[in-house]
Amino acid sequence: MPYRTIIEPFKIHSVQEIALPTAEEREAALQRAGYNLFNLHADEVIIDLLTDSGTGAMSDRQWAAMMVGDESYAGSRSWYRLRDSVRDLTAMPEMIPTHQGRAAERILFAEAVEAGDVVPNNTHFYTTRANIEYQGAEALDLVIPEGRNPAADHPFKGNVDIDRLVALIEEVGVDRIPMVMVTITNNSGGGQPVSLGNLRAVRRVCDRYHLPLFLDACRFAENAWFIKLREPGYADKTPRQIAKEMFSLAHGATFSAKKDGLANIGGFLAMHDQELAGRCRNLLILTEGFPTYGGLAGRDLEAIAQGLEEVLDEEYLRYRIRSTAYLAEKADAAGVPIVKPPGGHAVYLDAKGLLPHIPQSEYPAQALAVELYRDGGVRGVEIGSVMFGKPRPDGTEEPAAMELVRLAVPRRTYTQSHIDYVAEVILSVANRAKDIRGYRIAESAPWLRHFSARFEPL
Ligand code: F0G
Repeated sequence: MPYRTIIEPFKIHSVQEIALPTAEEREAALQRAGYNLFNLHADEVIIDLLTDSGTGAMSDRQWAAMMVGDESYAGSRSWYRLRDSVRDLTAMPEMIPTHQGRAAERILFAEAVEAGDVVPNNTHFYTTRANIEYQGAEALDLVIPEGRNPAADHPFKGNVDIDRLVALIEEVGVDRIPMVMVTITNNSGGGQPVSLGNLRAVRRVCDRYHLPLFLDACRFAENAWFIKLREPGYADKTPRQIAKEMFSLAHGATFSAKKDGLANIGGFLAMHDQELAGRCRNLLILTEGFPTYGGLAGRDLEAIAQGLEEVLDEEYLRYRIRSTAYLAEKADAAGVPIVKPPGGHAVYLDAKGLLPHIPQSEYPAQALAVELYRDGGVRGVEIGSVMFGKPRPDGTEEPAAMELVRLAVPRRTYTQSHIDYVAEVILSVANRAKDIRGYRIAESAPWLRHFSARFEPL
C-alpha cells in the first residue's frame, strides 16, 4: 500500500469564497429564519452540510464536456452520449432524462401507481414517499431491524427485511403492489448500503410474485464501494463491475444525478419495460420537455455522462468514503452518538442520545441542528420528528423512529481542515449539551413541512 493519509485525489482548480458571519450575525440570522436552517441565506453559512445533492464540485473534464454540449431540441448528440453511458451501466434500454430525481419519481408513480396501492422500500426518501402518497398510495419501509437502531453495527444496514417483504405481499396481495423499491444507499436510514446478496434475495421474491424491482439509485457508486469493502467475494471486482451487477438485478431505476452523477442538476428514469417507458415519455413531454432533453440543457447531459464515468473511479471512491468516515470518527471521539457504521455521504448525529432531556415532542434533532449553526455556522439537516412526525387525531403527534441530524458531505468540495473545523464545532456543542432546549412549531405547511416551518425556542 503506497499511501499514508488518504488524500483528496484532485487539486483545486477554481475556488469560491466562504463568508464568515460573526456569532451576532448568526444569532440574528436564526431569529429571522424562524430557527429553520432552510430559511438561511447561504452566505450566512460557513460550512454547508445541508445536503450532498447538487452541491459537489465538477471536474475540469466535466466543465470541458459542457462546452461541447449540443443544445439541439430533438436528438441532441449529448443525449445520445448520456443514453449510451446509462445503457452501458444499467443494461436498461429505456432512458428518460429528467430535471432531477423527484421528477423521475413523479412520472413513474403517475403511470405505475394507483390509489390504494402499497409500495415497499427499504426506506423511502421523503420525495419518494410524498410522490407515492400523492397518488393515494401507501409507502412502506421494510428495512432490517438493525437499520432502525443507530447503535447496531451491521455491514449492510440498508438491507430489506425479506421475511417482512414476503409477509406484506401475502397480506396485501400482488394486485395492490405495483413495484418493489430498494434505495441504494439508504439515505433516510443513515446512508447505509444494501448488499448484493440482499438485492438478489429481493429479486427472487419479485420473480416469485411477478413484481418489478426498481432501484432508487442516487448513490449507486457509494453502495458499490461498500460492497467491494464489505461483501465477501467482491474485493477484487471494480466498482463498475459491482454497479453493473446491482443494476442487472433491477427492472428499472430512478436516479438523481445531483448525487452520484457528480452534477449540479439532473436525473433520469431508466427501465426495461418499453410500454411503460412510452407512457412515461408522454407525461414527460407534458411537464419536463422533449424526451431527448427532459428539462435539462444539452450541457447538463454532458456533465452527467462525464460524472457517471468519474464517480466509479476507485481513487475517488476510496477518498469519498474515507472522508465521511473521518468526520464520523471525530464526532465519535467528541462523545456524540452517531449512526454506526457511518454511511457513504453523510454522518448522522443521534440527537436522542445526545439530548435525552428533550422529549421528541420538542424536536431534539432540530435543537441540535440549530446549535451547530449557532456555534460555528455549520448547517446540517434535521431528520427526525419535524420531517417525519405524523399528526394524531387528538392534535398530538406520532414522533419519528429516530431523531437524527444529518451532516451531508458535498462531493469534492471541502478539504480536511474544513472537516476538522466541523469536528471542533460538534465538540463545543456536545460540551454544553445539557443546557440545550427544545422547540415548538409556530407555523407549518401540510406537505414537507420541514422546508418552511417556523419554530420558537422553549
Ligand atoms: N431519492 C433519494 C434516496 C434521495 O436522497 C433524493 C434526494 C431523491 C430521491 C430525490 O432526488 O433531489 O434530485 O429530486 N436527496 C437530497 C438529499 C435532496 O438531501 O438527500 P432530487
